[in-house]
Amino acid sequence: MVRIVETSVRDGHQSLFATRMTTKEVVDLCKIYDDAGYYAIEVWGGATFDAAMRFLNEDPWERLREVRKVCKKSKLQMLFRGQNILGYRHYSDDVVDMFCKKSIENGIDIIRVFDALNDIRNLRQAVESTKKYGGECQIALSYTTSPVHTIDYYVSLAKEVESLGADSLCIKDMAGVLLPEDATKLVTALKKEISIPIELHSHCTAGVCEMTYMAAIKAGVDIVDTSLSPLSNGTAQPSTQALADALKGTEYDPKLNMDVLHKAEPIMTQIVNKYVKNGLLNPKSLQINPNILTYQVPGGMLSNMIKQLTDQGAMDKYEEVLREIPKVRKDLGYPPLVTPMSQMVGTQAVLNVLNGERYKMCAKEIKDYLHGRYGKSPAEVDPDIRKKIIGDDEIITCRPADLLEPEFEKLKEQYKDIARSDEDVLSLALFENVAVDFLKKKYAADSVETDEFEMFI
Ligand code: CO
Repeated sequence: MVRIVETSVRDGHQSLFATRMTTKEVVDLCKIYDDAGYYAIEVWGGATFDAAMRFLNEDPWERLREVRKVCKKSKLQMLFRGQNILGYRHYSDDVVDMFCKKSIENGIDIIRVFDALNDIRNLRQAVESTKKYGGECQIALSYTTSPVHTIDYYVSLAKEVESLGADSLCIKDMAGVLLPEDATKLVTALKKEISIPIELHSHCTAGVCEMTYMAAIKAGVDIVDTSLSPLSNGTAQPSTQALADALKGTEYDPKLNMDVLHKAEPIMTQIVNKYVKNGLLNPKSLQINPNILTYQVPGGMLSNMIKQLTDQGAMDKYEEVLREIPKVRKDLGYPPLVTPMSQMVGTQAVLNVLNGERYKMCAKEIKDYLHGRYGKSPAEVDPDIRKKIIGDDEIITCRPADLLEPEFEKLKEQYKDIARSDEDVLSLALFENVAVDFLKKKYAADSVETDEFEMFI
């Protein structure tokens, strides 16, 4: 039997309409999902945290608590980026620890963590803290292809993951570039070498995902991630119902309650229609794009790049930039193209082409990466390129967070006028300006209510 993790209320809307599903929409669906027989429902983390405050004026912590209230049977899962948590810098260990503690206290059961470079040292604190507070910890390995990303490379990382104490391993194929035959080889090799459950997370972007899932299932993968149709396919996960139907009556049957799923469908259809109508769901995202198998560019990165080129009036350079991406990746030691590396590599490729000279200009993040501040690159960085950009500067080889002092208490002190809870402090630590605006509005509304109440006493 293969188990299913439902991703529609996290990755589904993040992939298809910029993470704009509201808490009410998420809760309405989760109420039904709770009876479907999923292994878990992915409800939190990724871009949902930022988007809730920035675009919806909603408290992400409240969303989690609301979902927990209606999900009595199902495990709730979240995703975050190791030592980056959900932000864009490395946080000290005590902030990572507090984030795990509060996530679990507010309702999360399974914490999935990954690191863009697969530097396992950046995941150690998250694993330790998740276990400490009674959560289930899954480590996701970012999947990509390159001369160094071989089956042996992933098997040796998976062994490290297992010995670090993770409860399960996920192959996270964010760009949807894992092909069926490679999935068979990879899952077969992993099953031989590790004993913790293996989950596959991929995207339909290139049009091969369902075939890859079937191959992985036949090779013994334990769990796969799917998204309730009609919020499926395109740049999101394969359809939950279609996979359940395809496996029905076989030894892999996930035994989902189809009546429950059919009950959720019309609600999802209404939600999806709303975002088609308001333009947030671009029908283009629902089409498959086999070209990504050549350039390995995830959907989100492609739309970023198109925007940068359009802003510069340089869309005629589009093909040239696409061809530059694999070269930049090679120069930088083949980082997988996942946040934040996807944005960094994409921007560098645009700069290299538009400036007519490679690495004439570089973003601060690329310089930090070359200094070792993101961790260890999968392969060696080209020494000439490094020299051109950062000269003979010293390079960090330790775990980057080892250089950081504890900072949670300092953050608490810094935000004492705005934050009313440790959860607020964490929101502020992760998305400072967005959280300041959000919390000011939130608590201003609170005090108005109190005043009105007092007037009527
Ligand atoms: Co994903």
